[in-house]
Amino acid sequence: MCGIVGYVGSKNACPVLLEGLKRLEYRGYDSAGVCVVGDGQLQIRKSQGRVGVVERQVLDDQEMRPATVGIAHTRWATHGEPNEPNAHPHADDTGRIAIVHNGIIENYATLRQYLLGKGHTFRSETDTEVLAMLIGEFYNDGAGSIEQAVRAALGEVTGTYGIAVACAGEPEKLVVARKGSPIIIGVGAEEYIVASDASAILEHTVNVVYLSDNEMAVVTRDGLRTLTLDNVPVPKEVSRIEWTLDEIARGGYGHFMEKEIFEQPESVRMCLGGRLDKRDRRIQLGGLESVVRTLARTKKLIVTACGTAWHAGLVGEFLFEELAHIPTEVEYASEFRYRNPIIEDATGVIAISQSGETADTLAALREAKDKGALALGIVNVVGSTIARETDAGVYLHAGPEIGVASTKAFTCQIVVETMMALMLGRRRLMSQQAMDQYIDELERIPEKMSRVLEQSETIRQVTGEYIDRENWLFLGRGYNYPVALEGALKLKEISYIHAEGLPAAEMKHGPIALIHEGMPVVFVAPRCATYDKVVSNIEEVRARKGRIIAIATEGDEDIRRYCDHVFYIPEAPAALQPLLTVIPLQLLAFHAAVLRGCNVDKPRNLAKSVTVE
Ligand code: AGP
Ligand code: GLU
Repeated sequence: MCGIVGYVGSKNACPVLLEGLKRLEYRGYDSAGVCVVGDGQLQIRKSQGRVGVVERQVLDDQEMRPATVGIAHTRWATHGEPNEPNAHPHADDTGRIAIVHNGIIENYATLRQYLLGKGHTFRSETDTEVLAMLIGEFYNDGAGSIEQAVRAALGEVTGTYGIAVACAGEPEKLVVARKGSPIIIGVGAEEYIVASDASAILEHTVNVVYLSDNEMAVVTRDGLRTLTLDNVPVPKEVSRIEWTLDEIARGGYGHFMEKEIFEQPESVRMCLGGRLDKRDRRIQLGGLESVVRTLARTKKLIVTACGTAWHAGLVGEFLFEELAHIPTEVEYASEFRYRNPIIEDATGVIAISQSGETADTLAALREAKDKGALALGIVNVVGSTIARETDAGVYLHAGPEIGVASTKAFTCQIVVETMMALMLGRRRLMSQQAMDQYIDELERIPEKMSRVLEQSETIRQVTGEYIDRENWLFLGRGYNYPVALEGALKLKEISYIHAEGLPAAEMKHGPIALIHEGMPVVFVAPRCATYDKVVSNIEEVRARKGRIIAIATEGDEDIRRYCDHVFYIPEAPAALQPLLTVIPLQLLAFHAAVLRGCNVDKPRNLAKSVTVE
């Protein structure tokens, strides 16, 4: 996601735009830029780095002339490094149309080829510039108005967007449109402020108009016209903003972690976006295209990471071995980097990292590269150090993860591993039918996640019954063993309750001695090949008067006989269950931390990115 601001009114636009961007920096902050429209010209200033960098650039720029219409953007890169050429606003090649964009143009590569064929030249690596060029193509091809050119261009686009467009030829107006990324319009006294969310509007007005998906608006000082992308007028009511600035940044949730837990259906949709090619029934991972043939012949994969990312790697081990039949091992980066590891021929090393800056993971990646491994990354932050040092990789597209405890990055890491395993599996032994089934199942995950999230209040109530217990066990088997580890880590790191995750069968080899009356034991027990074994483990704990909380598959009423509490997930193939079984554990940890008065988003002693050893 990113931050968009637009202004039409009588004030000098630049200060309004820059202040608005500062309010939106939590949405993305790797580069920023402004464009103001005056004297029939666009004036664009942009730079890598925070909003303050471009602000200084504008203030120092004697040539910047005041203007009362403009657009601005603070970026969360998805396509193209966070650098000045890729920063928004992007202009068409006449320099007469500028656009800022939040979202992903999934078919940008196809559109780019078409525009190159029409003689256009590109200055950036972004998908957004392609949209700017396409609008310019329609505009200069006689669309009649900038809004008609925008509508025509969006008709060719698949993907998500929240956009604001300025045009030197029609300097009194902005055109905005949305599909999948938010756009709201603040209604002031003969002025309008367009933004990604109300935090950039609140200081000017509390009156707003919300655009819905597949709608657009033409905004001038004299008013705004709202219409569908099919050019049908849509009357809009003016609403009042009831939130404080802080509440807006957290999307109305009490904490960034809660917001990010509930964002997971959307972040998974963004992660999948443009990568499940239903027409050709295949997985499309652009970042691996240059190495996919080598990767398909790899004899071994080594996944290296830390913390939650390491847990995602453990799920990946099951995925790569079951779906792609590639022998896989998972290594703590901090151990791998010092172990003088043996890297044989045809080995691929996958570094998983949300931040892309974790020191141990970076060092492990470098060690593997020095020993000849093909270096791959699964990273959230575009242009991060780990991402730049890999030979190839896949970005999560999960959006900024602000909460120190990783949640949506974890599920998106697993989604990327699943797509990689399917892509490689299909190049090895997987049938097209199996691929089709998994693609269909992956597409259903966001909706299934939403159903699990609906249990949050019940989970909060159950958690409250055990909030005084200082030791918990989390147990699971197979794909859900790493989920048990992740549940334990979540509880530990934000509620400071001690917890241990284990393979369920391992309990008998010592830890069962810990079980005492009233001790909470969480079982990740969806229907799968080892379900009966897990139920036996549940009975072993029950016999010792442990308190049992189970994550089970909808419809499984039997399990209730053995458990004190059951939270349900929808039916899903074993390989996709972690995407669902982890959610109740994330919620349990979150509610425990809130009930214990802990700092959920900034837990003691922790940092969002561990850039030291
Ligand atoms: C996860 O909740 C923790 N904050 C921590 O374990 C984290 O996963 C680990 O530090 C790795 O971070 P990275 O994904 O940015 O490399
Ligand atoms: N996909 C666009 C880019 O990478 C927009 C990203 C965003 O939402 O900031 O520039």
